[in-house]
Amino acid sequence: MLSKLILRGSQLVRTATHPSEFFGGLRLRDFPKLVAIKRDATRRERLHTAPDLTYLFWESTLRCNLRCAHCGSSCETRSPRPDLTTEQVIEIVDSIAADFEARRIFVSITGGEPLLRKDLDQVVERMTVHGMRSCIVSNGTLLTEERARRLVDAGMRTVTISVDGLKAEHEAVRGAGTYERTLAALGNAGRAGMTTVEAITCVRPANLGDLAEIERTVFDAGANLWRVITIDKMGRAGQDADEASAAAQMDADLWLDPPQINELLDYVASRRDAGAPVRFSCGGFLGVDRELTVRPESGQCFAGLAIASILHDGSVSACPSLPRSWIQGSALETRFSTIWRERFHRFRDVSWRRSGRCHDCSWFDVCLGGGLHERAVQPDDFCWLDRQGK
Ligand SMILES: C[S@@+](CC[C@H](N)C(=O)[O-])C[C@H]1O[C@@H](n2cnc3c(N)ncnc32)[C@H](O)[C@@H]1O
Ligand code: SF4
Ligand code: SF4
Repeated sequence: MLSKLILRGSQLVRTATHPSEFFGGLRLRDFPKLVAIKRDATRRERLHTAPDLTYLFWESTLRCNLRCAHCGSSCETRSPRPDLTTEQVIEIVDSIAADFEARRIFVSITGGEPLLRKDLDQVVERMTVHGMRSCIVSNGTLLTEERARRLVDAGMRTVTISVDGLKAEHEAVRGAGTYERTLAALGNAGRAGMTTVEAITCVRPANLGDLAEIERTVFDAGANLWRVITIDKMGRAGQDADEASAAAQMDADLWLDPPQINELLDYVASRRDAGAPVRFSCGGFLGVDRELTVRPESGQCFAGLAIASILHDGSVSACPSLPRSWIQGSALETRFSTIWRERFHRFRDVSWRRSGRCHDCSWFDVCLGGGLHERAVQPDDFCWLDRQGK
């Protein structure tokens, strides 16, 4: 008798099945993957009732020395609101260290451009003293070897540098004169003592054909990891686009259609198969065939479960890419741990997610309705099965 594994509620169960149904559904060789995917989902399920903070984003500023065409945070030279002062940041960091197991927390310092903050070393040092690990996500243009060494001295060991293509395509979105400085940052970081030097690339139609050469270039320049992502419809790549026609142009320039998404995923899978330190990242479920081929773990969004964010003005949310309407309070007014404990219900409530596109999806128990920010910023385009044309 043939049997197949299906998800019933949160359980993976074996049922008898007709051969045609069996082969029309999952392939036999996918079963071990299905078990691994379910195991990852079970781990996340526990976090809904017992959240466990292990990853913190700090949006250190909304100021930036660049003005990228696709910037999801719509950053420019000036910020709409002032940044937190050094004292305010340190007070929040100290409160988190007092209320959580600091050694288990990894802080990703993003922006805006974090290297515009003059107090960065001081804040990183404070995090390190508490046992937190940290990294910056940076456009790299200001990361000299000397600057990187100061961060290493403060305890940082990881940097992520955005490289959005070969020179012409990188500069088409990031501005003229940025490419060489960004590539140099990868080498500077390694020489200064950073142990993880990650390049990250936003893939769009114009740079999709260059993946192999971008990969060679970033590794030659000093990266030891390469992450590829797609562009979300937010900030200047979404609702902040100046007008409807500009938004339509953004779509054409920045958005990958299903064949292009499949080309991207095929590329990443083939490189991982060959042992290259390359990964794809998104917050949703890609289907059993794709899962675990483009990244080591299955697609899960941990926003509000294991992840929280302190935004540039002290507001607290689950993920920095969520719209401001999702903010649950300010760490300047309420202790961060109180917001995490008492005001994060919306992120932990599963029921509202089982609606619309996800209402009767048989993968809901492992996907949980996609990545939270993707669902919020592009409500018609968040499902990664749809995005592959499945
Ligand atoms: C907002 S930036 C801040 C850090 C730094 N300024 C940089 O560019 O790396 C963080 C990351 O988000 C990426 N990003 C920017 N706009 C995006 C969008 N609309 N969708 C997805 N990722 C985006 C950037 O390429 C970068 O890798
Ligand atoms: S993507 Fe980064 S570098 Fe570009 S404008 Fe936004 S914050 Fe600045
Ligand atoms: S329909 Fe919803 S639950 Fe199903 S795979 Fe897509 S995003 Fe995930």
